[in-house]
Amino acid sequence: MIVPGSASQELAATLAAETDHALAAVDFHRFPDGETKVTVPEPGDHAVVVASTVTDRAHVELLQLQDAAREAGADRVTTVVPYMGYARQDKAFESGEPISARAVARAISTGTDRVLTVDPHVDAVCDFFEVPAEPIHAAGRLAEPLPDDLADPLFLSPDDGAIDLATAVRDAYGRGTVDYFEKTRLSGDEVEIEPSDADVAGRDVAVVDDIIATGSTMGESIAVLRDREAAGICVACVHPLLVGNARTTLARAGVDRVVGTDTIERPVSDVSVAPAIADAL
Ligand code: R5P
Repeated sequence: MIVPGSASQELAATLAAETDHALAAVDFHRFPDGETKVTVPEPGDHAVVVASTVTDRAHVELLQLQDAAREAGADRVTTVVPYMGYARQDKAFESGEPISARAVARAISTGTDRVLTVDPHVDAVCDFFEVPAEPIHAAGRLAEPLPDDLADPLFLSPDDGAIDLATAVRDAYGRGTVDYFEKTRLSGDEVEIEPSDADVAGRDVAVVDDIIATGSTMGESIAVLRDREAAGICVACVHPLLVGNARTTLARAGVDRVVGTDTIERPVSDVSVAPAIADAL
């Protein structure tokens, strides 16, 4: 039985339809002090908890769903974390800091037999889990909504860490070249982009990244591409976190289209990763 988190209802429903698993009607309750409680119906032998940890509350809810599924009789719990929060904190950058991705991975491991997570910031975060954990690579699906007639398309990543994602989208699209910019992060919401010497004038460009959070990475990339007279600019990401006024930042920068997946449920989540999760289950 698929057991959805409150932030992953749409994806869980699509996954249930895709796999013919039953979909649990979970009851979510909030106490006056802000604490939450879930009630999970009998899940049968195998519970598949599907919950993106987009907020700290969603992290706690995921742990509750795992525990409730076991309490309700599941012998086996598989945990699907479509978007894994804290995955970007995969090392201690200064002395005294935690490795937050490891801390949350350890907590999630206590309630499950297996973990699947979609395009984590780096695949190595899967090593932090203390049960078998695998990344699901779903970026290629971002090619689905792109029009067939892109002009001399360029698939660009804003830094070298996302080249594999840009390449996956290009491969799925079937034609085009791949390139990347260099990014320096100045603060939580400020980046500097050093463009490559790729000729973008008159070409349609898809900028591909794992996450759009504040939109500053994509905003700066779009500004460079506009300066260099790219024809059309689309930005595509696996995890459309889109915090604060990120969507406005992208619009003001002059993007033509924003494409994301349903690992995080936002108005731009036009692409479903359910088929990729179904294959991995
Ligand atoms: C960082 O390395 C990630 O790959 C993304 O580039 C980053 O999370 C995007 O953040 P923002 O939208 O705040 O620039």
